[in-house]
Amino acid sequence: MALNKELIDKIIRVTSHAAISCHRFIGKNDKNSADKAATDAMRNEINKLKVNGEVVIGEGELDEAPMLFIGEKLGAGGNLNIDIAVDPLEGTNFVAKNLPGALSVISIAEKGNLFNAPETYMDKLAVSNKIPNDATDLDFPLKKNIHNLADSLNKDIKDVTVCLLNRPRHLKIIEQLKQMNVKMKLISDGDISGALMVTDEKYNVDIFLGIGGGPEGVLAASAIDTYGCKFQGRFLFNNDKDISRAKQMGIKDLEKKYNLNEIIKGDSIFCATGITNGDLVNGINFKDNKYITQTLVTHKSSNISKIVIREDTIKT
Ligand code: FBP
Repeated sequence: MALNKELIDKIIRVTSHAAISCHRFIGKNDKNSADKAATDAMRNEINKLKVNGEVVIGEGELDEAPMLFIGEKLGAGGNLNIDIAVDPLEGTNFVAKNLPGALSVISIAEKGNLFNAPETYMDKLAVSNKIPNDATDLDFPLKKNIHNLADSLNKDIKDVTVCLLNRPRHLKIIEQLKQMNVKMKLISDGDISGALMVTDEKYNVDIFLGIGGGPEGVLAASAIDTYGCKFQGRFLFNNDKDISRAKQMGIKDLEKKYNLNEIIKGDSIFCATGITNGDLVNGINFKDNKYITQTLVTHKSSNISKIVIREDTIKT
């Protein structure tokens, strides 16, 4: 069964409203208030949808997040049972510091089709659909991935661009890439956007890799699925609490490398609305009491990937 196309506009409304709700916090150096506003608005909007929804990727576990926690039931009821992955505010620092790249993000799939992921880090790899499936792999040494990528793209190594989070944990990778004379796009935050940059040549990113949030990995994978690109991820469990949560969620093999079709199956709708201007979409434009938003939308079964512009006149 496919997710009805009419649902797309309703899901766009969810992320647009969540984005708009934190517009007043842009540049106020208060990431928690911005996150709370986005989370409340998103929850409110999802609850208007005629669906039986369950949060599988959310704002934490029941004991630590009062809203949009993993396992929370959402929606106004009906015949459609869905899994929901949310990141109401991706890039809390971007909003707090008025920097480019903040998004409000959601993905939905039919019940049982979206990976129920714990709140841990994930080692990720994403490449475009032009790269043969066996050319890159999370388990290959970095050098092999880069060389194979360059060969597949018929490019010089010096012209290959790797996107990754600029973090101390990536120092070794960054040094290796430097030695190989590879071009880097070192992002300060926002690795959903980072991963999505492999979906179109216009972003000039050939591979996204490195360790970031697991929930962000699942959300990125769900959009990447519509573009037919490759995504792999492996969760990283650093402490006993993470390990026991993973086991409770049914993860038996803690070292498992997940391919895209194990993270998201069947039909899906993904929406990411810009809050501040970014590579994927523009941020909110507030003009004449209207909020103009841009949302990147993908719908797997109808092969839609487009940017939708909306105008809203809501009070925040
Ligand atoms: P927040 O919006 O929750 O602050 O996350 C931003 C982000 O950069 C994600 O895009 C990324 O997956 C994660 O943080 C990386 O985590 P860390 O900052 O701990 O390296």
